[in-house]
Formats: sequence, C-alpha cells, structure tokens
Amino acid sequence: MKERLLQYLACPLCQRQIRLRKIADKHDNEIMQAELGCEGCAQIFPIVRGVPRFASLAEMGEEKAATASSFGWEWQHFSHQDPRYAEQLLGWLSPVRPEFFAAKIVLDGGCGKGRHTLLAAEWGARDVVGIDLSDAVDTAFDATRDCDNVHIVQGDICQLPLARVFDYAFSLGVLDHLPNPLDGFNSIASKIKPGGHLSVWVYGAENNEWITRFVNPVRLRFTSRLNPRTLLHFSKIPTAVMYLATKLIYGPVKRIGGASAARHLFYGEYLSSISDFGWREQHTIVFDHLVAPTAHYVTRKQFESWWQGIGVHDAVIGGHNQNSWRGFGQVNK
Ligand SMILES: C[S@@+](CC[C@H](N)C(=O)[O-])C[C@H]1O[C@@H](n2cnc3c(N)ncnc32)[C@H](O)[C@@H]1O
Ligand SMILES: [Zn+2]
Repeated sequence: MKERLLQYLACPLCQRQIRLRKIADKHDNEIMQAELGCEGCAQIFPIVRGVPRFASLAEMGEEKAATASSFGWEWQHFSHQDPRYAEQLLGWLSPVRPEFFAAKIVLDGGCGKGRHTLLAAEWGARDVVGIDLSDAVDTAFDATRDCDNVHIVQGDICQLPLARVFDYAFSLGVLDHLPNPLDGFNSIASKIKPGGHLSVWVYGAENNEWITRFVNPVRLRFTSRLNPRTLLHFSKIPTAVMYLATKLIYGPVKRIGGASAARHLFYGEYLSSISDFGWREQHTIVFDHLVAPTAHYVTRKQFESWWQGIGVHDAVIGGHNQNSWRGFGQVNK
C-alpha cells in the first residue's frame, strides 16, 4: 500500500479517518505488512501482502462470501492481460473516452484482477483505487504494483472503506453479483464528489432469456457448486462450442458483412464482439458465467430506476451488445 492512499480512505464502520500504525515491512514505496487504525471507533485493519484488508470473507454473509470466493479463484487462475481489454472497456464505458480520465481520482468498484484499474491509470488518472471483496486483490496488486497511481484495497462494495473524494467511479459486471445490486449502486454513488461521474454496466434481463431459462438453473444447481478446478475442466466443453462458432461463423460474418450482418445471428452482436479473443479469454468468459452462485439479470426499467433514485434523471443509458445495460451520468450535482 502506498502511503498516499490514506487520503482516500475512511472507516467502513464509522466513516472517520484511517491512520497508519505499526509498519512491519516496507519495500520502497510499498507498505507490505502493517496495521491501519480508525480514529473514531478504534477498529484495526491489517495490511497483508501490500493490500489493506477491510473485509474478511470469514465474517461475511454466506452468499457474498461464496460469490467472492468463486471470483477470487477465477481471477487468480485467469490472471492474464489482453491487449483487447482497452477496446472492450471503452465499449462498457461509452461515451467515456480515455481522455476523460486525465488527472481524475477514480474508483474501480469490484476490480477483479485489476485489468481496468490498470487501464485507467495508463489513461492518465491522478490516482485509481481498485477495490474487490475477493482474493483477486492479490492478482490485482501484482498486476499494478509498478504503477505509482494505482491502489488496491480489499473491501465490500456495499460498505466501502473510502471517503467521498472520487471524480469518477465505474463498476463493471459487479453489481449483478450482489445479493442486493441496488445497495452496491447507492454505496458506490455515495463516494463520488458533487459533480463527479459514474459508469455502471450490468447484464440485462432482456434478450438473455436463453440464459435465465436454461443456463441459470444449471449454474445454480450444478456449476457454481463444483470445485473450481473441476469447473475449469468442465467449462472447456461450452468454451469449445463458443470458440468454434466465433472463429468459424461470427468472426468471418463480421469481417465480411460488418457488425450489422452479425446482428442477425443468434446472440450475434455479443458473440461477434468477442470473436477476436483467443481461447484463454473465451474460457475466462464461460467460466465467469458458470462460477458465481449469485447473478441477477437486470431489466432496463430497474436499471433506470437506480439512476433516478440517486437524482440522475439525464443519465446516458443504453443497451450494449444486445445483452446488457450501460449507464453514465453526473451525480451529486
Ligand atoms: C465478473 S467479476 C468483474 C471484475 C472486473 N470488474 C472486470 O470486469 O474485470 C465480478 C467481481 O466483483 C467482485 N465482487 C463480488 N461481490 C463483491 C462485493 N460485495 N464487494 C466488492 N467486490 C465484489 C468479485 O470478487 C469479482 O472480482
Ligand atoms: Zn471506525
């Protein structure tokens, strides 16, 4: 943990200031082992392997802990980076462009392996805080520790150990995995400074009936209960089907006929959008869909009501890849 993260932290229990106590191990700028203490309620939070830990799965509700533990395994195994992540990220954040990040204090809520935290830092953010509940933070820390402007924190998005200091927050593919997505949405919005911006992307209920009707029961009763290593092997079967379809059909149709031709195929916009990804990334995507015990598919109406609930009536809300909702707006004006 870099010492200047302290200015962005606040106690998740009482919101008072966090102070650094007892440093046991420091490598250059990075505090690897130490204790943080709350000035208000005196709660102690450890820094372990360079990451401040504000939540422990052992003390979480069962549903949250099970979801975080599945994702922790996923991101520790699929720790690779891919050059196509930048374009994919801009698709999720649209209309935001890389220049938007310049000099901003940014929050990546549910950062997983830190792939987007890293991009936000490369795009010129003053500081980026990536927070995740799972052990994925260890992978994110390794991926970003050479960037002076990145800070990785372990904590619950619904009880953020952060002050209201952010110019921009984004949360991608995370809220749909919370027991109550709206709690996470409100929590993240509450950390944005007046006039700051928020981007959120979630899976949609619309156009995903084949998942909610046929895949969800299998995920709930079978795949999310498998040992992750077993699921890793099992998930190669649907990955092989998707991989062949994207390489032999969706990719060529998009190249020859353009994106509008691909739209006519089953799940065309989405499958053609991932057709350039290699096996490893496609395996990650399939594994990701099968591993989580909790996954909500959100209707457009619900998604719009989240934004209206925090007073953003002019959010830019749109469908993405015909299977999900993305939103962008200015909050706390
Ligand atoms: C599908 S992954 C997306 C990760 C990242 N946003 C990305 O796109 O690479 C969902 C992430 O949400 C995290 N997560 C789930 N529940 C959480 C919670 N209550 N607080 C913080 N993170 C959570 C998981 O650990 C996981 O890393
Ligand atoms: Zn406190």
